[in-house]
Amino acid sequence: MEIIETEVLIIGSGIAGLMAAEYLSSHKNVIVITKSKIEHSNSFMAQGGISAVITKEDSWQAHLSDTLLAGQFHNDRRKTEKLVREGHNVINTLSEWGVSFDRDDNGRLLLGKEGGHHRNRIVHAGGDQTGRKVMEALIHRVINRVRVETGQYAIDLLVESGICYGAFCKDEDGSLKIYKARHTILAGGGYAGIYAASSNKYGSDGSAICMAYRAGVELSDLEFVQFHPTIMKDKNESALITEAVRGEGGILSKSNGALIMDGVHPLKDLAPRDIVSRRLFEEIHNNNEKVYLDIRGISHFKRKFPGVTSLCQKAGISIETGLIPVSPGAHFTMGGIITDQFGRTSLQCLYAIGECANTGVHGANRLASNSLLEGAVFAKETADYILSTDKKRTESSSMPSFEWFSSENCIYEDELLEVKTIQSLMDKHAGICRQVNGLKTAEDALQPRTLRPFLLNQPFSAVKRFNMQTMAWLTVTSCMKRKESRGSHYRTDFPDSKKEWEQKRIKRSVFQDESLIAKKAAARVFN
Ligand code: SIN
Repeated sequence: MEIIETEVLIIGSGIAGLMAAEYLSSHKNVIVITKSKIEHSNSFMAQGGISAVITKEDSWQAHLSDTLLAGQFHNDRRKTEKLVREGHNVINTLSEWGVSFDRDDNGRLLLGKEGGHHRNRIVHAGGDQTGRKVMEALIHRVINRVRVETGQYAIDLLVESGICYGAFCKDEDGSLKIYKARHTILAGGGYAGIYAASSNKYGSDGSAICMAYRAGVELSDLEFVQFHPTIMKDKNESALITEAVRGEGGILSKSNGALIMDGVHPLKDLAPRDIVSRRLFEEIHNNNEKVYLDIRGISHFKRKFPGVTSLCQKAGISIETGLIPVSPGAHFTMGGIITDQFGRTSLQCLYAIGECANTGVHGANRLASNSLLEGAVFAKETADYILSTDKKRTESSSMPSFEWFSSENCIYEDELLEVKTIQSLMDKHAGICRQVNGLKTAEDALQPRTLRPFLLNQPFSAVKRFNMQTMAWLTVTSCMKRKESRGSHYRTDFPDSKKEWEQKRIKRSVFQDESLIAKKAAARVFN
C-alpha cells in the first residue's frame, strides 16, 4: 500500500478546499485530493453569487438580520456575525486573486437580489457563472503550488490515540493509498445527493461526513435539508435555475397564469426558500399542477443569464416562450460535522469547512448565496489557525491496528440498497413534507446492519452506497427526533415551531447510535 506524507491533507476541491489550500500553501506542504476532476464541485456549478455588504445603504447588521430570519434563529449568532462582517473582504480577496466580478460602466459592483434578502447584495460574475469564474481563478492559483490528486475517493480517516493522521483512499482502479498528514481538512461537500430530485450534479453523497462519523466525530442538524424551489428537470438530468432569475423579475405561476406566491409572504417570489418550496410542493403534489418560472418580464435575459439559457437550450426548452417548467429539489444541507470558528472538530487535528461542516451559520435554512461566503470565510479562519499553531507532534510511526477487520464487521455489496432506492425513499419520506409513518418506513429500510464496517477491502461503488445509506438513515432518524417544524424541516404532524426546540440541536455520535441499535436489537430478541 502506497503511503504519501504531507503537512496538510485537504479532502475536496470546492471553494472551501481550494481557498484553504491557497492560504496554507505559502508555509505548508499541502495535498488536495478530490473524488473526480478538480472542476467537479458544487462550487463550480454555483450560479447565484456571493452575498456581501457593499453599499453604504446596506449594513452587516441588515445582512445578519436576513440570515437569522431565513435560518429561523437556529443560527450560531457569533459565527453568523463573523460570516456577514467578512463579505466585503472576501470579494476584495477574490478580486485580487483574479476574479472579475460583474461591474457597471463606472466600475461599481453590480448587485443582484435573491430569496430572503431585503437588499440587493449578491455579487456575481459572468452573469450566472459566478461559481465557474471563482473556481477557475482559484484553480489557476493553486494548481502549481499544491499537489492535487484527482480520482481519489477517501474511505476512512486514519486515527490513532484520538488524533487524526490523514485518510485511507482508493483510486479509480481500486488501489489503496494512505495519505498521512499532520492536519486533515474535510472539505468534501454535503449530502443533497441522497435525494433523486436534486440540483447537485456531482454526487454529494455525504462521504466526508460519514468518514468523520465513523471516526467518532460529532455531527449535528442533519434534519435541515434545503430544497431549492426552481430545479428544471430534463429527461436525464436536473439543473438549477438560479434564484437570481426571480431577483430580476421572474415570477412563479401555474399553467393558467395564476401567480403562486401572491398573498403567501411579503417577499412573494423572493420569500425564503423553505416557504417557496413548500408552496410549490403543495401545487405540484396536492393539486397536481404544473409550475412555471415566467421570465417574460426580464429584459436581456440571454445576456444576464447565459448559463440558464444554455441549460434550457440543452433541455429543449425554448427561452422565447418565456415559461420554464420547474419543481423543487434538494439543494444544500445545513447539517454536518460540528466545528468551532477555526474549523476544529471533536477529533484532534481534524477540521471541516464548507458544506460538510456544521458551523451553525445557516441555522435551519441557509440564506441565498451565503454558502460560497461560508466556504471562503471559514477556510481562511481554519488556515490561519493551522498556521498559528506550531505544536510539535510526533508523526504516527506505526499503522493503526485493524481491529475492525473481523467477519461480523464486513459488509457485502448485495446487502446494501441501490442508490436509486435510497434516493426514492428520501424523496418520498424525508423530502419537503415529513411525517412519522413515512419516516419510520424509511428508517426501517435504511438502517445499515453495522455502522462501522471494515471498508478498505470494498470496491469504490460499495463504499459510496454504504455512505449514502448511512447518511440517509442519519437524516431520517434526525428528522424523527425533531418533533416540530423549523426552517427547512417541515413535519405535517408537527406543523408549528415549538419554544422548547429553540436553539436545540440534534447531535449524533456513532457511539450513542451503536448502543441504541444494540438495545433495539436486544429488545427484539426478548420480545
Ligand atoms: C441560486 O443561484 O439560486 C443558488 C444560490 C445559492 O444556493 O445560494
